[in-house]
Amino acid sequence: MEIQTINKIRNMIKNKDAQKEYIKWLAAYSKPFIPQLALIFLFDTLLSFTNIGLALVGKEMVDRATNGSGVKNYILMYMAVMFSSLVVTALYQLIAAVVYEKFGFGIRKRVYRRILDTNWLDITKYHTGDLMTRLTSDVAAVAGGIAETIPTIIRLIVQVVITFFTLAFFDWRLAMLALAVAPVAAVVSWLLGRKVKYLTVKVQETESAYRSFMQESLANILIVKSFRTEDYSEKHLTELRDERLHWVLKKTRMGVAASSVMSLAFQIGYVTAFAWGVIGISNKTLTFGTMTVFLSLVNQIQGPIMSLAEMIPKVVTILASAGRIIELQELPEEVKSATNIKTEGLGLKVNDLSFAYVKDEPIFEKAEIDFKPGEFTAIVGRSGIGKTTLIRLIMAFTNRFHGDIEFYNKYGETESTNAGVREFISYVPQGNTLFSGTIRDNICFGGVKASDREIEEALRGAAAYDFVQELPDGIDTKIGEKGYGISEGQAQRIAIARALLKKAPFLILDEATASLDPETELMVLDGLRNWNPRPTCLLISHRMSVLKYCDSEIRIKDHKLITEKLEPEQIFA
Ligand SMILES: Nc1ncnc2c1ncn2[C@@H]1O[C@H](COP(=O)(O)OP(=O)(O)OP(=O)(O)O)[C@@H](O)[C@H]1O
Ligand SMILES: [Mg+2]
Repeated sequence: MEIQTINKIRNMIKNKDAQKEYIKWLAAYSKPFIPQLALIFLFDTLLSFTNIGLALVGKEMVDRATNGSGVKNYILMYMAVMFSSLVVTALYQLIAAVVYEKFGFGIRKRVYRRILDTNWLDITKYHTGDLMTRLTSDVAAVAGGIAETIPTIIRLIVQVVITFFTLAFFDWRLAMLALAVAPVAAVVSWLLGRKVKYLTVKVQETESAYRSFMQESLANILIVKSFRTEDYSEKHLTELRDERLHWVLKKTRMGVAASSVMSLAFQIGYVTAFAWGVIGISNKTLTFGTMTVFLSLVNQIQGPIMSLAEMIPKVVTILASAGRIIELQELPEEVKSATNIKTEGLGLKVNDLSFAYVKDEPIFEKAEIDFKPGEFTAIVGRSGIGKTTLIRLIMAFTNRFHGDIEFYNKYGETESTNAGVREFISYVPQGNTLFSGTIRDNICFGGVKASDREIEEALRGAAAYDFVQELPDGIDTKIGEKGYGISEGQAQRIAIARALLKKAPFLILDEATASLDPETELMVLDGLRNWNPRPTCLLISHRMSVLKYCDSEIRIKDHKLITEKLEPEQIFA
């Protein structure tokens, strides 16, 4: 992945078409913000005019002083220009901050949404820490780039051009001399740009690794503590930091070296202009005022040229970060068509199903089954055989399977599985899947506008009503990440209530009662069977109690789905 990304970015930067695509992508994201960006640019340009204004008024002031003419008005004018420059700067900073925030969020929201809409199997290959880095620091680099760097570049170019002509008006030779710093800047930044894009990708990748580790060890702090791996974790974090530091240092060294070279060129340019001016004054070919304006204009032409050169690595950083975001956008997106099949008497046919996560390691091979409408079907099979995988295929979390998975209804309508069918499926996944927030928040995931009565019904259906009532704040009791604060079996029942609230005609439970005692489990299963409207239900379980509640049983064996009436001892085989 790492090498791939770097190569991809290398190719992108070399390849003209890909560059066009980058720019198109950046343009598409910037489009809604063009008015605000234009405003920033306007302020930026105004600032360069006030700077030139200051230089010109300064010149008149010095010349008049030398001639013994009055300077009072000029001092006032100088102060007025300075004051307006201050006001414009302040306004500029305020607007830039707001635009940057809004713009950054605009991009972040779209990337976040794109991640949510990406094929599950493809996006879960990325660590959430890595995704977070892309969503935060890469998006910030791109947003900052567009909101600040690009307007700055335009402003700098305008500034160089205006200053050059103003300077040439006084002395074209000096103007040319001041421009002489440009080739140095160009060479340095060209050399720099090539290296910086590689280093930027490295810095971002090590940042991802570092964050991923922190996030994961904090999420699993119990494991860190119980295995007494606090020291190891700290050490590992330091190692990851060292790795990051290595690349950060390299990138910084590159920047420092480049800016030193440019600073030198700048100093030489300035000293030359200074010497030129002094000689001019001693020959009496130059007034003091012109000398002042020279020095300040030379400053103003070389400064922006150098800043422009420093912008090149920034632009490369933007491109590198944009590359990491575009990479996510190139992952297959789910097609979310609304389902158009009625859901009365909903069944599911699996035909000729073949699937493998990894080539040559099939999970299913030409499997078939019919889940009949209104039936409760148990799915059994040893751990790791593919029970959860079957559910993932049914729910279209990946579309990379062969064969048909087709829902049908009592009217004879059919629909092949796709992301849209999740509208009529309720799913209780394996493991703890609660969010932090109140119990009500969690249950309402299944129906945002649910009334208190509906929530109560769902809680009763999942045999969770009594324990929720006994909590200090009842249904408004706050729980932490992954249901922290309630027991595992209680969390499972809240997850079942969340699924029931959706009142979906197709219900899938993956080991959803595994943490319950037999008595509570029976209550939950009773609740499910009596749930109105009665769903078509798939229950993955190893437990006898669950199987007894089902109308039929499916075993996954030898990559096939087999319907069989199992004897108890077989079930636990
Ligand atoms: N994202 C994935 N990428 C590659 N292989 C996977 C992935 N998820 C699961 N597998 C593999 O696919 C096989 C089936 O996994 P699955 O989760 O469907 O098993 P299961 O029957 O639900 O097991 P359990 O009863 O333990 O939950 C396993 O061998 C597993 O290692
Ligand atoms: Mg499983």
